[in-house]
Amino acid sequence: MQLPQYVRRIIEERAEEVGFAALKSAATAMSEAYRERRVARLADAERTAAYLVTRMPATYAAAYAVLREVHLRLGTKSVTSVLDIGAGTGAASLAARAWFPDAAITMVERDASFAEAAHQFLPDAARQADLSRPLPPHDLVIAAYSLGEIREPMARRLWQSARVALVVIEPGTPQGFALIRGIRTELLEAGAHMAAPCPAETPCPVVDPDWCHFAARVERSSIHRRVKDAELGYEDEKYSYVALVRNAVDLPMGRIIRRPLQRPGLIVLETCTASGLGTERVTKRDRDAFRAARHRIWGDDWGALS
Ligand SMILES: C[S@@+](CC[C@H](N)C(=O)[O-])C[C@H]1O[C@@H](n2cnc3c(N)ncnc32)[C@H](O)[C@@H]1O
Repeated sequence: MQLPQYVRRIIEERAEEVGFAALKSAATAMSEAYRERRVARLADAERTAAYLVTRMPATYAAAYAVLREVHLRLGTKSVTSVLDIGAGTGAASLAARAWFPDAAITMVERDASFAEAAHQFLPDAARQADLSRPLPPHDLVIAAYSLGEIREPMARRLWQSARVALVVIEPGTPQGFALIRGIRTELLEAGAHMAAPCPAETPCPVVDPDWCHFAARVERSSIHRRVKDAELGYEDEKYSYVALVRNAVDLPMGRIIRRPLQRPGLIVLETCTASGLGTERVTKRDRDAFRAARHRIWGDDWGALS
């Protein structure tokens, strides 16, 4: 998974303008600040370039994977407008553009430097500077990696603006999942319907200290590898999410919630289904199921639609 080519080219140009040493020290400061849950004090150009190089490819990959699920359930035509809350440098909006190419996009972002970068990638998107003004109704409302930062209850407000669907993505950590699970519970009670990842609207069966999360594999650019002193050419971005819709959609029988275990003649799938968490052992003897399981990855649905 990679950002669109024109976006990668612009990111490289911006990274070059900042210079490698400044970029590397900004990226290090940003990771430390993230771990300590504080904001890094950095100049705008460095901070934005560091986000573009080290974080945006991963948040794009997560949003792309989640919106693929939404697209699968709703189809392209159902979404004609997208509201991106805490849009940052535009990762989720770009993913929305990939799945819903004709949709008009509005990005809400308070950081002027991030908003300016997002505008460079999506010059036709409308912009709103913060959340103090009312949020105009849009078919799809998406908040990717932003509600944890906004730190005020937003679920009801976002749901009110969502004509068709609301998608919330958070880091795939226990805290990120707790936020997602809270929104899931609150909005299902308020009449929302599940689109993904859950195969049912029953209470979530995941029990502490476990947490439901998925992974998107992201190719690292060479500048990203150098900035991070990383040897691997890819990274796995862990994320938790929920996609809720106004009108009920068909749900799959299950969701694969761990990386499948492949052994000769055997595939073991950890699944979440309407009756709870379970383990499916698919053997070669069951030819059709085995063939289907071989191509399934962590996060995919499993079984027929209900
Ligand atoms: C971690 S970034 C995520 C950016 C982007 N959605 C992505 O997935 O890459 C969170 C963003 O939320 C923005 N944000 C936080 N509070 C906000 C608020 N009250 N109004 C608008 N944007 C806000 C921040 O400025 C930041 O750009």
